[in-house]
Amino acid sequence: MRSAEAPEALARPAADVPAPTPTPTLRDFAIAALAATAREALARSTDAEAAWLSERLRRVETQDDWRGALQRHLAAGTARDERLLGLAARLGLHPAEVLAVALACAVEDDVMLGRALVYLQAPAGGSRPTLGLLDTAFAPLAEPDARAIDVIAGGAAARCGLLGFGNDAAPRPEHNVMLAPPLCLALAGIESEWPGATLLGGAQACCPLSESMRAEAARHAERLASAGSVALLLRGGSPAERRVLAAEIAHAAGRRTVLVAGERCESRPEVAGFGVWAALNGLIPAVSWELGPGERRILPRLAGYDGPLIALNGQDGSIVDEAGALLAWTLAPPPREERAALWSRALGPGTLAQELAALHRHRAGRIAQLGAQARQLAALDQREQPTREDVLAAAWSVAGAGLDALAEPLADAIPDEALVTTPQLARDLAALLARCRQRDALGARLGPSIRARYHPGVKALLCGPSGAGKTLAAGWLATRLGLPLYRVDLASITSKYIGETEKNLAQLLAHAEQAEVMLLFDEADSLFGKRTEVKESNDRYANAQTNYLLQRIESFDGVALLTSNSRSRFDAAFMRRLDVVIDFPLPGPQERRALWLSHLGERHGLTQYELNRIAAGADLAGGHVRNAVLAAAVQAGERPIGFADVVCGIAAEFRKLGRQLPPDLLAASDAVTR
Ligand SMILES: Nc1ncnc2c1ncn2[C@@H]1O[C@H](COP(=O)(O)OP(=O)(O)OP(=O)(O)O)[C@@H](O)[C@H]1O
Ligand SMILES: [Mg+2]
Repeated sequence: MRSAEAPEALARPAADVPAPTPTPTLRDFAIAALAATAREALARSTDAEAAWLSERLRRVETQDDWRGALQRHLAAGTARDERLLGLAARLGLHPAEVLAVALACAVEDDVMLGRALVYLQAPAGGSRPTLGLLDTAFAPLAEPDARAIDVIAGGAAARCGLLGFGNDAAPRPEHNVMLAPPLCLALAGIESEWPGATLLGGAQACCPLSESMRAEAARHAERLASAGSVALLLRGGSPAERRVLAAEIAHAAGRRTVLVAGERCESRPEVAGFGVWAALNGLIPAVSWELGPGERRILPRLAGYDGPLIALNGQDGSIVDEAGALLAWTLAPPPREERAALWSRALGPGTLAQELAALHRHRAGRIAQLGAQARQLAALDQREQPTREDVLAAAWSVAGAGLDALAEPLADAIPDEALVTTPQLARDLAALLARCRQRDALGARLGPSIRARYHPGVKALLCGPSGAGKTLAAGWLATRLGLPLYRVDLASITSKYIGETEKNLAQLLAHAEQAEVMLLFDEADSLFGKRTEVKESNDRYANAQTNYLLQRIESFDGVALLTSNSRSRFDAAFMRRLDVVIDFPLPGPQERRALWLSHLGERHGLTQYELNRIAAGADLAGGHVRNAVLAAAVQAGERPIGFADVVCGIAAEFRKLGRQLPPDLLAASDAVTR
């Protein structure tokens, strides 16, 4: 039976039958061409390298010389050279370039070839082929009036970075020819990494996308897969979200994506060969930027790659292709129903998902991140279900990234009873709270003139003297909304360098939108103040800066509170862009009484009469009441705070302000100090 005999025949090769010579590949032809340059000398030599080279030459020249054999091989092609031949056809490579590539690749994994090259190239040249050697070896392939060295050093393979050249301080014939290791591996059908680039997996499980995003990604994938060299710009969203979407689009197109920084692509040597590598591995390159306002880049061409490209950028700046246009997909937070679905997926069953979806405008990536953290916090407490407080705590713990450098967290929870207000202020704050709660869906239920340009952001100016409770009210609002609050450090935002202030602010606002946190700009008039009359070139620049800030703050999607001591310092155009302006008046006697009570707490020893006396007598803002109570508490020590302690505290505050104590309290103070 034949099948029973076969293994035995394989196990016992007949000693007198020579092993069949394997079909030569392109690297064999390249080595044969090298050997042919010194045919006679090799035959005379007894060196191992010479014997090896002669044998390789014989292997190829079974019928005619290596050139004829090569021509037959190129016409037929073999499976092992499929990738290189495919690439050669796509890039239009000359046969001399094809052999140079095959040889440069071969030398990376064949020690004997390295030795043979040293042998052939002695005394100048090492174990990589030099241009001089290749010029001689591949001369038979060059056209009559051309030189192989020019073809190799200046052809398509060199231009797209497939072939690299080393030792370039030496004369040109001594330059050696090489191939980056990832390219060698890619030609052998092995996927590897490209230094500085990141291979993104298929659809990334870490960030579940909303249904509408997935559908949109599939539409873009179809377009990218059907046309040749088209590009798509993914704009806005967080860097992580953009990455996930790039991976999702590539996945939907049946490919994978490789991420590379835009700055790297702008410097050619850094990415030489990258395009060829991506093409060989069937990857879609995703080129990523984080541009500042007014910056512009042209999507670079990746030499050797002619497939679809994805560009990634934040909200600012512009990326265009050479024709000046680029199809862009601007990433927006998913609509409310999808947010609810994402929240339930992240948090588990319950009504919290609906509540969070209605109240906040989180994005898919953020929901997944907060959900996971909130679940861990609940688990720490041995609770099944995360609560709203867990989500807020999670938001605090992960919001910091990117914001910390430019803003300071104000983490105190401010309960209702900590804030003393006049009836008007209470109404204003309640209206602001309602506006913030409804900001997401407000536009949708109104007429076309609103819908056409609706921004869900809320910008409120809190105006009033120092210590009137503006920062406290901001904290109260953040507590009620369940959002982290960050106070913007204007000193770290503003810069004397042209364009830097805008860049910092753009970065800050983008982070705040991504993380869905509230921003508080103290002394906002210094940033959003009046435009000046142009007298010097600096003024023009300052005005351009204000214009940018006006436009950017208008499109801000989050909640921004600004405080100032006076509304008259603001630019008129800016005032119009504010949604709410709230006055914080100095407290009247009634509010002052409430302020003393809310600061003194339960354990004080003041009579109603004494309380009325200080509330009526000392016209201080809340901030001073706070200081006076702290001073009184220190003086009282362990015993309950008494009238005399408070009067001392008040006297200290008046001294600080450089004011005289009112007569009634002066008398009391004199009585105390006597
Ligand atoms: N309306 C108020 N209700 C309760 N406490 C108040 C109120 N206003 C001020 N305070 C007390 O004064 C302190 C300082 O107030 P806050 O920092 O909010 O003032 P501000 O208006 O922001 O002042 P500035 O303009 O100087 O920043 C608060 O921590 C609080 O103790
Ligand atoms: Mg303040």
